[in-house]
Parts: sequence; C-alpha cells; structure tokens
Amino acid sequence: MSEPVLSLEKVSAGYGQADVIRDIEIDVHPGEIVTLLGPNGAGKTTTLRLVSGLLKASRGTVRYKGRDVAHLSPTRRARAGIAHVPEGRGIFFGLTVAEHLRLGYRGETIDAEIVYTYFPALRQLRDRPAGLLSGGEQQMLAVARNLARRPDLLLLDELSLGLAPLLVERLLPVVRDYSRERNCGVLLVEQHVPLALEVADRCYVLSHGDVVLHEPASRVRENPELLVSSYLGQSSTSEALAT
Ligand SMILES: Nc1ncnc2c1ncn2[C@@H]1O[C@H](COP(=O)(O)OP(=O)(O)OP(=O)(O)O)[C@@H](O)[C@H]1O
Ligand SMILES: [Mg+2]
Repeated sequence: MSEPVLSLEKVSAGYGQADVIRDIEIDVHPGEIVTLLGPNGAGKTTTLRLVSGLLKASRGTVRYKGRDVAHLSPTRRARAGIAHVPEGRGIFFGLTVAEHLRLGYRGETIDAEIVYTYFPALRQLRDRPAGLLSGGEQQMLAVARNLARRPDLLLLDELSLGLAPLLVERLLPVVRDYSRERNCGVLLVEQHVPLALEVADRCYVLSHGDVVLHEPASRVRENPELLVSSYLGQSSTSEALAT
C-alpha cells in the first residue's frame, strides 16, 4: 500500500490540562476515505482540529506525507494541502459562490473548474450570495470551496449537521469520486453512521478519547454488532445505527 498521507502516532491532545484524546493511532492513505465514528464528546472534532493545526498535540506525532507537522501553523498546513471543513460549514454569507471559489491562502492553487466538474449545480448559483443559498447548497459550497484548493487531505466534520440525510447521501458520493480520481485522502466524521460506512474504506471508533475499534468499513457494514459493542453504554447507539 502507498505511504499514508496522514498518520497519527500515539497522539494525545486536549484543552488545558486534561487530554481528551489519548495515544490514538490513525492513518489515512491517498485516495482512501477513513471514517471516524463515536458518540458525542468522544473527541472526533478534537482529532480533526489537531490535524489541521488548530490544536497542538500534548504527546505523539502528527505526520502529513511522512513529515512531522508539529511546527506548522494552520495556514501553512492548509497551503501544504490539508483542507478542513469544520462543523457549521465555515462559509461567508456576504460573499457569492464565485467569490468563495476564489478564496485561498497566498501561494495556493485555486481551481474553480474542478468545483463545477464535481458540483455542476453550483455553476448556476455562482453569483448568488452564500447567505441566500439553502442549507444543502451552503454545505455543498463549503465542501466545494475546499476542493477548489486541490487538497491531498480533506477533513470533513459532520456534513449532515442540520441537513436531511438525503442531502448528505448525495454529497458523499461526490466526495468519494473526488478522492478516488484525485488521490485525496479523506478523514470523515459523520453522525449518520450507515452513510459514512457506505462511502468509507476503513472505520475507526473513538470512545472517551480512545480508539476502541479499527476495521474495514465493509466488515462493519456486514457486522453492525461490532459497532454496538464499541459504543456500549451510549444511549445514542440505536439512533446512530438507524438508517
Ligand atoms: N474548546 C474546548 N475547551 C474545553 N473542552 C472542550 C473544548 N472543545 C471540546 N471540549 C471537550 O472535549 C471533549 C471532546 O469534544 P469533541 O468536540 O472532540 O467531541 P466530538 O466527538 O466531536 O463530539 P460531537 O459528536 O458531539 O461533535 C468533550 O468532552 C468536550 O466537552
Ligand atoms: Mg464534533
């Protein structure tokens, strides 16, 4: 298998004194979708923040394309090809769709045509301010804007937040096509577990800051009880597994 685009090597991190993720080991290969699942408060968002550099590791090593990125700021990581779509979308209501697709960090390649290839619906909306888009269109724009930067590693946090599962069901296959065709690694946090497992190649489950399960997504799809036991004690299990 190829060299991982991302590897977390025994990484711990948190806010203040307490670590909320402990000694976690996760890797993502180019062209692969890895989903990070787990109950509320497990540390999923924290893990993504750690990779994009919004949070520092207290122990362990975060490697991007084989290189320790501890000393790189979030901006430099973004320029190096790490794109993070945070919970809550991260778009600007006053800017139009086309303006979003021109936004980048200095020295980055911005490729709006890539966006219109993967999300043709955005072409018709190009002159509309983001604040006037529907929730689903805004989410599409949030993902699209990050694809326009041609990332090698895409971090997606809860695309489904506030959206009907149907919309996410349409969005995720586009992400999968992009990932395969452009050899981009994806680390996907998603509350709709069946949707995430549908597009993912591998799956990790975090519980209280520990990785408690690491399996091929196909194995978890066929044996959902694996997930039930790793979410054990969490009342959200049955909701999370509902299709
Ligand atoms: N800025 C912060 N300061 C202090 N504690 C925080 C902060 N952000 C998150 N936490 C705590 O860290 C733990 C992990 O939070 P995190 O946001 O990573 O969980 P999550 O798995 O993304 O949950 P959810 O599914 O609800 O989004 C939680 O206990 C949370 O309260
Ligand atoms: Mg979260």
